[in-house]
Amino acid sequence: MTQPETTGAAPGTPSMISMQGVNKHYGDLHVLKNIDLEIPTGQVVVMLGPSGSGKSTLCRTINRLEPIDKGAITIDGVPVPAEGRALARLRSDVGMVFQSFNLFAHKTVLENVMLAPLKVRKLDKAEAKKRAHALLARVGIESQADKYPAQLSGGQQQRVAIARSLAMDPKVMLFDEPTSALDPEMVNEVLDVMVALAKEGMTMIVVTHEMGFARKAADRIIFMADGSIVEDTDPETFFTAPESDRAKDFLGKILGH
Ligand SMILES: Nc1ncnc2c1ncn2[C@@H]1O[C@H](COP(=O)(O)OP(=O)(O)OP(=O)(O)O)[C@@H](O)[C@H]1O
Ligand SMILES: [Mg+2]
Repeated sequence: MTQPETTGAAPGTPSMISMQGVNKHYGDLHVLKNIDLEIPTGQVVVMLGPSGSGKSTLCRTINRLEPIDKGAITIDGVPVPAEGRALARLRSDVGMVFQSFNLFAHKTVLENVMLAPLKVRKLDKAEAKKRAHALLARVGIESQADKYPAQLSGGQQQRVAIARSLAMDPKVMLFDEPTSALDPEMVNEVLDVMVALAKEGMTMIVVTHEMGFARKAADRIIFMADGSIVEDTDPETFFTAPESDRAKDFLGKILGH
């Protein structure tokens, strides 16, 4: 599995995420149409496309929140398992952050970040605590460790959600519109954490409407429409010389005001 040169990866770089001939339907609706996608280790992919084009569905198939009808998905060379222990392991390899933060309301920030390492990884409590503090420091909210989620701003809660995902040492991070539910003044504090993560070499897929982030942090833009990948290129090319009418139309709408 090698990467075509157009995506900016060195030829021959092995894929961290590989999707081959992936198809998915919801009833009669063909939501993912023959998706072939190779994402090398450390690549930051921003996924764009109109509402309903299949971006969220594609992300959700990667950690098997959604099963596929046909095709194959591998993470770091390992086929995405259907169920059981192997699936639990996959879920810890693939972190996912959504628009809604989904923190445990009755646990403190620190406990939220400690929970999975304690339960899934069977980490020693002192070690889990030490690591959770370090992760909270990394996302800039160590001082909030003993508060409850409701006592935090949206931006702070989303940073806790990122720290909680990172606590499992994922190989891949999926972000599905992580800043869409935030007040505008909180968007950047979350994007800054994501930019830092990208610089550290995390393999990331980010669905976002933040074009500044896409231009600055993406190695590659995937543009989807109607369940297909319509453009797959570098940000400069995508934003200055999109090829398809669908992408031109999309950019016209999103950059037009
Ligand atoms: N659980 C479901 N059951 C049936 N149809 C679904 C389901 N989830 C999504 N769909 C449909 O599949 C298509 C793709 O949805 P998806 O959520 O992946 O799009 P999206 O690109 O993420 O859109 P948005 O930008 O609005 O988030 C849409 O037509 C949607 O209505
Ligand atoms: Mg979506």
